[in-house]
Amino acid sequence: MKIEKFKIESYDEVVGLWRKAGIEIVSSDTIDEVTRVLNRNPDLFLIGRVQEKIIAVVMGTFDGRRGYVHHLAVDPDYQKMGFGKSIMEALIEQFRTKNIQKVHLFIEKTNKTVVEFYNNLGWDVREELIMMSFVPDEKLYKRHM
Ligand SMILES: CC(C)(COP(=O)(O)OP(=O)(O)OC[C@H]1O[C@@H](n2cnc3c(N)ncnc32)[C@H](O)[C@@H]1OP(=O)(O)O)[C@@H](O)C(=O)NCCC(=O)NCCS
Repeated sequence: MKIEKFKIESYDEVVGLWRKAGIEIVSSDTIDEVTRVLNRNPDLFLIGRVQEKIIAVVMGTFDGRRGYVHHLAVDPDYQKMGFGKSIMEALIEQFRTKNIQKVHLFIEKTNKTVVEFYNNLGWDVREELIMMSFVPDEKLYKRHM
């Protein structure tokens, strides 16, 4: 697998991959919103290609203090072949290059099996934390697209 930085020309293909892998596409995933993420994190938003086809994607971000991992996905036809691990290792290397001290990610409780995947890569579940969210403008955020 060849790992590259995501470019916005690949938006449709990547959204197709996210959908195929079961990632829920919400109002934060429109082309404008994804462009905003990309512009702020051009080195952390990665794709993986096998024979030109995009089969893996991960949206890494940095808010100035912590790193985050969003929307990691491997094409179901290519899962369990080590590609998820490879693209995550490439992203972690980018975080390391930027001296980012800690990285967080969020897992839907309905997707618990993926915890083992991250455990394998050295991630820890934070039992002592509770995640809370707030929507500043109800007009902007839509869960169902
Ligand atoms: C999670 C995901 C990215 C893993 O990608 P992958 O390419 O299948 O994973 P890999 O083949 O690199 O697996 C690496 C290791 O984790 C293990 N692993 C992979 N998926 C696993 C799972 N769902 N549960 C438990 N272990 C898993 C593999 O057996 C492998 O172990 P090994 O190194 O001892 O052989 C992929 O299953 C996926 O796209 N899932 C749907 C989207 C998703 O849930 N994304 C995460 C959102 S938080």
